[in-house]
Amino acid sequence: MIKTDIPWEDGAKNAPLPPDAGGLPLLGGALDLMKDPLQYMVRQYQVLGPVFQVRALNRKFIVLAGPEANLFMSRHGDKYLTGEKTWATFADEINAKHFLAAINGEPHSRLRKIIKKPYSRQNLLNHLPELVEITRKTIAQWPQDKPLVVFPAMQRLGSEQIGHLLLGSGPDDYFDDFVVFMRTLLNAVLGQRPKLSLRMPGYRHAKERVMTLGQNLLDEHRANPRTEDPDLVDYLLAAEADNRDLLSEAELRLGAIGPYLAGIDTSAGTSSFMLYALLKNPAVIDRLRSEIEEVFAAGPLTAKMARQMPLLTAATIETLRMYPVAPMLPRTVAKPFVFAGYQFHVDDPVMVGTAVAHYDPNLYRDPHVFDIDRCLPPRKEHRQPGALAPFGLGAHTCAGAGFAEVQIMMTIATLLHDYNLQMEPADYELKISLNPSPAPDKNFRISLRQRAV
Ligand code: HEM
Repeated sequence: MIKTDIPWEDGAKNAPLPPDAGGLPLLGGALDLMKDPLQYMVRQYQVLGPVFQVRALNRKFIVLAGPEANLFMSRHGDKYLTGEKTWATFADEINAKHFLAAINGEPHSRLRKIIKKPYSRQNLLNHLPELVEITRKTIAQWPQDKPLVVFPAMQRLGSEQIGHLLLGSGPDDYFDDFVVFMRTLLNAVLGQRPKLSLRMPGYRHAKERVMTLGQNLLDEHRANPRTEDPDLVDYLLAAEADNRDLLSEAELRLGAIGPYLAGIDTSAGTSSFMLYALLKNPAVIDRLRSEIEEVFAAGPLTAKMARQMPLLTAATIETLRMYPVAPMLPRTVAKPFVFAGYQFHVDDPVMVGTAVAHYDPNLYRDPHVFDIDRCLPPRKEHRQPGALAPFGLGAHTCAGAGFAEVQIMMTIATLLHDYNLQMEPADYELKISLNPSPAPDKNFRISLRQRAV
């Protein structure tokens, strides 16, 4: 039985500091963290419990982890923890004060309200035939019978889906700029690369091009507003028209390119991991194919049909559990508190290890095994309190969670329906690369051949 009611208290109480996770002199836990941060935290949690301090080179932070921490985070986290300081570099770099991850309270909920409809699961469910068409068109450009590196192909596919369905057009030749811009900036924000990298010409060029695309999107939508079936940019511009002081031009630009920034690596990483997990479990592919074929054969996809795919849904949840691409949330302490008997002081850097619970053997039977049946009745292991949090917790929980789930499910459904897939080489074993989001490394390749269905 898992303990989910760890006591916590408001304020500074002179409680002891969290235990140190130790590690090598000077390096601390840096090497383990660089290799696989989630599994490092899982191991520390099993020894030290839900709160511990990690040193890694010149960085030091407190980890809050496990189902008990997840419950604290979803109920009280926004009162005591903030992303404002963590994301300050990002907000400065793009000249946007109203950057979702960096703001709290009323301005945050106002901005979330504006983007709620276009970002929603229902919006994508209303456009399923288009989603499948874009997916098919993009995959048709992948080489057949020749190894394809999966993650970059999924990044491109995800950006086409996001662009066409949320912004009215794809990223065209701006795609590479997004990848460079996001990777460099995130690494600098998370302290994994020096901030000096933000002065390098390659990054500056990519940033300028990303901002140009943002401005082009605003200009095009201002010239041709869509009243029927408006997209994300139409919603942002309508909010601006209602209240001219709400968002600056830089903030509108950021709003327009936001789904690329938040969605390319995350969705692509998850789809890539899911493909890997399935190719390692061919019996699951057989089960999924019969469900997918039945639904695809019933005519143009509708929201109702997509909801009747329990096996595909379970496989997606199991992928999000086992291969979370955002396994921890960076924060600082906004207000002092005590959790599990340990003191948190204002401005302490904290990592909320939301995905540590995904590997808790008290919640999940054989947590290192990919097992879609654990997400189906009667087991439903992921439904236990604090057990699953791939999209974060609290007010900043992923705004595109429903969108991403449908996007990933339909990507995999289309691939399995239309193609036979094979890993190249067939005995490839997963190695994770951090970009900085985790994804299968460049040796995860597949070859595909059209199926006769
Ligand atoms: C599997 C795919 C995805 C995963 C695992 C994921 C995960 C997350 C997580 C963990 C957060 C919270 C970060 C924090 O609290 O510090 C977040 C925030 C966010 N995500 Fe996602 N995400 C995914 C895909 C997407 C997509 C496709 C979009 C857009 C179409 C999107 C839009 C956002 C936005 C706008 C936020 C900021 C929310 C806020 O601060 O209020 N995400 N995401």
